[in-house]
Amino acid sequence: MDFLKAIKNRYTTKLYDHSKRIDVGKIQKLQEILTLSPSSINSQPWEFVFVSDAKTKEQLSKVSQHNTQKVLDCDTVVVFRSIDNLSTFKNELSERLPEYALGFYNDFAEQHSENDVKTWMDKQVYIALGTFLSACASMEIDATPMEGIEPKAYDAILGNDDYRSILAVAIGYRHEKDVNQLHIKPKSRKKITEVVRSI
Ligand SMILES: Cc1cc2nc3c(=O)[nH]c(=O)nc-3n(C[C@H](O)[C@H](O)[C@H](O)COP(=O)(O)O)c2cc1C
Repeated sequence: MDFLKAIKNRYTTKLYDHSKRIDVGKIQKLQEILTLSPSSINSQPWEFVFVSDAKTKEQLSKVSQHNTQKVLDCDTVVVFRSIDNLSTFKNELSERLPEYALGFYNDFAEQHSENDVKTWMDKQVYIALGTFLSACASMEIDATPMEGIEPKAYDAILGNDDYRSILAVAIGYRHEKDVNQLHIKPKSRKKITEVVRSI
């Protein structure tokens, strides 16, 4: 599908049809797409957890603020996590990165607080979010990006404390009664002349 058409057609789904499942092959494709997302110095400071197990989804739903029903009804919740353990990460980087990139990271880490370094990691995770939402749009899979979760409670459920949960995306297929569908609530965006300047 033409990308402009795909991005015009996507919207944040608010109500899922629990009876409609995503093909396993499509889930595998989305997983591969996530591994291909770009990141600064190819740092890839992330973990993506695909949760389709009903019990785990139910646990997550209880710590998902206003997103509870979406987490329950969607096919899969994808949790986007950012590296939390910087020393594990540094060791991993030193095995994987070319010297110039490693030098860049070491200088950056030396000159910035741990908090700033983690903020930089989180930005890379948000690039993966953009890649993922675009991929869902091109595959006609409905999605809900969700910052409205309790990250620490997610961490306790998901395990692997080298990473911190940042946000989650519910994916599946819309319910016919979803009031956020574009024919009921048309897309609202600033005008192109307000946000784009050509020089
Ligand atoms: C990072 C991020 C976090 C969001 N968090 C939530 C959320 O927790 N729950 C929700 O229903 N929508 C959430 N949204 C959806 C936005 O409100 C939505 O993208 C915006 O209003 C534009 O509408 P559209 O996606 O339908 O075009 C989030 C979007 C982004 C990009």
